[in-house]
Amino acid sequence: MKATINKKGIFCAAHRLYNHQWSNDKNIEIFGKCAYLNYHGHNYEYIVSLTGEVDLITGFVFSLHELKNILFEEIENVLDHRNINIDIEYFSKKNPTVENIVIYIWNKIRKRISNKFSVKVTLYETKNNFVEYDGF
Ligand code: NI
Repeated sequence: MKATINKKGIFCAAHRLYNHQWSNDKNIEIFGKCAYLNYHGHNYEYIVSLTGEVDLITGFVFSLHELKNILFEEIENVLDHRNINIDIEYFSKKNPTVENIVIYIWNKIRKRISNKFSVKVTLYETKNNFVEYDGF
């Protein structure tokens, strides 16, 4: 039988959304406050979900302890208290929208988890705005 385990976490990071080919006014028209020149922060909350068979011996889908270590190494240690545009090479030419960040996180987690499991990541940029990505 399959089940889905979920683990939540948080990281705080700065970003700015902009297209350098557009004027400042156009950037603010499209990206709103997220285009302001001097960056700003969000308290990002994420949920990583793994779906797989419940192991008959352990009763686990996946070790939550191991998952905690993976999330620390791949998410918190990389993104927490960073400026995403400046500190993360992946975002040097890509806008750090919540969509692009969730895909970035999913790819990092996916590499660490056996293909026996499906992986979904949900990322909240604000209380009411969140994006889900499962590789499709
Ligand atoms: Ni923003």
